[in-house]
Amino acid sequence: MSSLRDKLDMERLPQHIAIIMDGNGRWAKEQGQDRLYGHFHGVESVRTIVEGCAELGVKYLTLYAFSTENWDRPIEEVTGLMELLVDTIRKETATLHKNNIKLHVIGDTNMLPEYARNELQASLDDLKDNTGLNLVMALSYSSRWEIVNAIKNIAADVKAGKLEPFEIDQDTIKDYLTTREFPDPELMIRTSGEYRISNFLLYQLAYAELYFTNVRWPDFRKENLYEAILDFQGRERRFGKTGEQVNNEPLKQS
Ligand code: IPE
Ligand code: IPE
Ligand code: MG
Repeated sequence: MSSLRDKLDMERLPQHIAIIMDGNGRWAKEQGQDRLYGHFHGVESVRTIVEGCAELGVKYLTLYAFSTENWDRPIEEVTGLMELLVDTIRKETATLHKNNIKLHVIGDTNMLPEYARNELQASLDDLKDNTGLNLVMALSYSSRWEIVNAIKNIAADVKAGKLEPFEIDQDTIKDYLTTREFPDPELMIRTSGEYRISNFLLYQLAYAELYFTNVRWPDFRKENLYEAILDFQGRERRFGKTGEQVNNEPLKQS
């Protein structure tokens, strides 16, 4: 069976893909199981998509794993997710290392239970010198939380005389966001048929191409990833310019 992978233009891969991994709960319900069963199977998709991105040579993959708002879910689900997180990190760090993957975490990690923070820190330390795929886990993350934090820090630096208000530009703001080390995502994928951003990278997605699929996250596999990238490669990214400008076509004289 030929793979969509053969159709990809390897010269025009997005260097940063961001994914809202949605639909674990509905997937589980469709199987007559509880929500945690869905999250458990979602981990297999994480594993395969991380591997798929690393194989292609994508430089950055940001995965929305847990939002600030997700803390309001039933306590059993939150606890189950934290345990799954710790268990997964423990099991997967060696494989990530073998594949030269560097891990980053963005989000309000102070909210995480201590045992989860410790496990994460150990994994971050183990993988810190790797130079391949940058895997960015958004954990207890929300864009509004991040923007509020950035504004507080900018205000504090202005007050301390480290920053002049007239100097603030788009680069300054980027430097105060948790994503300061990463280029903006070029492709954002959301699974499971919801057409919304749900407080994810609101500032950074300004010019991302958005791709929505009905596939539930636990069913998302490499072919689905390739399909999204192919779709991305068929788009014309104009950044506010005209199609003629982007394609270097001569201006029509009237
Ligand atoms: C995404 O799946 C995973 C998390 C938000 C942690 P959901 O748990 O949101 O699944 P649905 O949307 O209820 O199907
Ligand atoms: C977004 O999914 C958060 C994550 C995938 C981690 P949600 O399922 O929480 O989003 P809403 O509630 O449908 O907007
Ligand atoms: Mg959901």
